[in-house]
Amino acid sequence: MWKLNNKKALITGGTKGIGKATLLDFLDLGAEVLFTARNQDEVKYVETDLRKKGHKVKGMSADSARSEDVKKIAFWIKENWNSLDILVNNAGINIRKQAKDYSEEEFRKVLEINLIAPFELSRALYPLLKESGKASIVNVASSAAMQDVGTGTPYAMSKSGLLQQSRSLAVEWAADGIRVNSVSPWFTITPLTESYLHNDERMNAILSNTPLKRVAEAEEISAIISFLAMDKSSFITGQNIVADGGMSISAL
Ligand SMILES: NC(=O)c1ccc[n+]([C@@H]2O[C@H](COP(=O)([O-])OP(=O)(O)OC[C@H]3O[C@@H](n4cnc5c(N)ncnc54)[C@H](OP(=O)(O)O)[C@@H]3O)[C@@H](O)[C@H]2O)c1
Repeated sequence: MWKLNNKKALITGGTKGIGKATLLDFLDLGAEVLFTARNQDEVKYVETDLRKKGHKVKGMSADSARSEDVKKIAFWIKENWNSLDILVNNAGINIRKQAKDYSEEEFRKVLEINLIAPFELSRALYPLLKESGKASIVNVASSAAMQDVGTGTPYAMSKSGLLQQSRSLAVEWAADGIRVNSVSPWFTITPLTESYLHNDERMNAILSNTPLKRVAEAEEISAIISFLAMDKSSFITGQNIVADGGMSISAL
């Protein structure tokens, strides 16, 4: 049960960062994986590289926030697998600015990708997840869902909504054999945060508020996603696992 053998999984945003680390973990653990991202060249590059290594993997260029693309993903899974065991709603973005400087379009974009897309994708894939009989949805939230961590109000709102989405769907779909959980990382080195963390002053402020005195590697987050995806975590649903190096439990 520490494996994902014979499991069929979808990971959104699988070409970089936490999504890519999850993709590599899932393949190593024996799952067959469909991953998405918007940039077609990057999807093709990752797919070709992994297929050369003998993995059962399919890449699809798809924007989780576009309903046509959600339909395309659901159609592919229905045609090729006829059921789905694992959905990782990982794709997410941030636009770092003060609330007063946000345009309505920017605000809507953050909510569309981070909050509405996981809901629409989970709903579109619900019949296929139900068909699995033992399915797991893992939503990638953030420390920003629970505390102000200076990452902007729309991002924080989107991630905090995602936590409640996970809890409510966990209750609604428990009888269908679908577990729904979240993972909330604190700063993790990925293309999303690389330039932000490059600033020494900012990095020092983060480290001084983190008892473990470092930021996370993407593999430390994908390990939690893998656990929640496995049957090993079969009695856990509606929960949020925080991976923050102790930041949230340290007051001084
Ligand atoms: N890194 C951190 O410190 C941190 C901390 C807390 C939470 N998180 C969360 O963890 C998740 C992954 O973050 P990351 O740091 O790994 O980000 P990243 O390095 O920027 O990677 C994001 C991935 O998602 C894809 N993506 C973005 N928007 C998409 C969309 N609309 N549809 C499909 N794919 C999309 C990107 O590819 P394309 O651009 O080609 O679409 C890329 O593959 C996000 O939800 C983020 O909010 C990250």
